[in-house]
Amino acid sequence: MSQLVLTGIGDYAQNVRLEQQPELTVGPDDVLLQMEAAPINPVDNLFSNGWYAVQPQVPSFIGSEGVGRVRTIGAAVDPTLAGRRVVILGSYEQGAWADQVVVPARNVVAVPEGIDATQLSMLTINPITAHLMLTRYVDLKPGDWIAQTLGNSAVARSVITLARIAGVRTLSVVRSEKAAEEARAAGGDLVLVDGDDLAERTASALAGQRLRLVLDGAGGSTAGALATGLEPGGTVVSYSSATGEPPVLPLGSLVYGELSLRGLWVVNWFHTAPRAEIEKVVADLVDLVAGGELVVPVDSTYPLHRYAEAFARNASPERTGKVLFTFDTTGA
Ligand SMILES: NC(=O)c1ccc[n+]([C@@H]2O[C@H](COP(=O)([O-])OP(=O)(O)OC[C@H]3O[C@@H](n4cnc5c(N)ncnc54)[C@H](OP(=O)(O)O)[C@@H]3O)[C@@H](O)[C@H]2O)c1
Repeated sequence: MSQLVLTGIGDYAQNVRLEQQPELTVGPDDVLLQMEAAPINPVDNLFSNGWYAVQPQVPSFIGSEGVGRVRTIGAAVDPTLAGRRVVILGSYEQGAWADQVVVPARNVVAVPEGIDATQLSMLTINPITAHLMLTRYVDLKPGDWIAQTLGNSAVARSVITLARIAGVRTLSVVRSEKAAEEARAAGGDLVLVDGDDLAERTASALAGQRLRLVLDGAGGSTAGALATGLEPGGTVVSYSSATGEPPVLPLGSLVYGELSLRGLWVVNWFHTAPRAEIEKVVADLVDLVAGGELVVPVDSTYPLHRYAEAFARNASPERTGKVLFTFDTTGA
């Protein structure tokens, strides 16, 4: 089997090499997958740099999530999983940038045939994060407004889709006009480009209505500007920081508005949610993918051995969607 191996801590583009591994050992609670597709996600950069909650022990596997087919099952695994197509829950206990991967069976969920592999491969991290942010913190009702940073990201696109299905309206903040076009094309109700007067423009765009929830993946002051539009007692959920800064909320909004700041890491949910709940959430999201409602744009796909080109494209400002590895499954 072929696997990208992280050989040092730092940018993965400088620290992975393609290795041919001998036959993999499948433990009693494991499954061996023949991979179909695996995306490049921002978390892979956090992981390779040692900035993620899961630390790499080099030489290490790498690659956060994906879709594949069960080729071998361990002695203690439910036999009905044999031969099934499955998605990997992106908990970083296994590396998806490989043509074959051994995964604990609890980290896979069976999915149907006949659905685009690239979309399925991106299901468990970003869409589930969007689902959790829209359901765990505030009891959102049709007509409510929420706001989010990173408005053109894959997470934000899933938020826009799931919010629209629930009748909830979205204000998405981006950092360029190009990104604003992307967020509008994804169905965002209001889209604003970040800037010094974001709080004033947010108030003006909402025309007297208050936000019920702010979702922040950017860090720094952007979520703080949005927080000025929150209802009293409103909630900010921090799920990442593209700037590297913690979210900064205006003291007056935080104190007089009695705001709550919450954190979310989807991996905690993978580890603690009842299995039936995980399977239901995955099944509901798969239905949306199958129906063409939940779509993440694919910029490009590469075979594993062209990883250097894939990484360069992923880092390019020209990129317009996700870059993924896809695997030849014809002979598998
Ligand atoms: N907490 C969790 O459990 C969890 C789960 C899922 C994802 N995440 C995190 O969510 C974030 C988004 O993931 P994704 O897969 O949706 O990413 P993505 O589709 O690759 O999009 C990246 C986004 O980050 C923006 N960005 C990049 N550098 C930035 C900077 N310096 N300042 C402000 N914005 C910047 C990009 O804006 P441009 O297009 O303008 O460059 C784009 O909106 C990542 O940080 C990821 O690790 C966290």
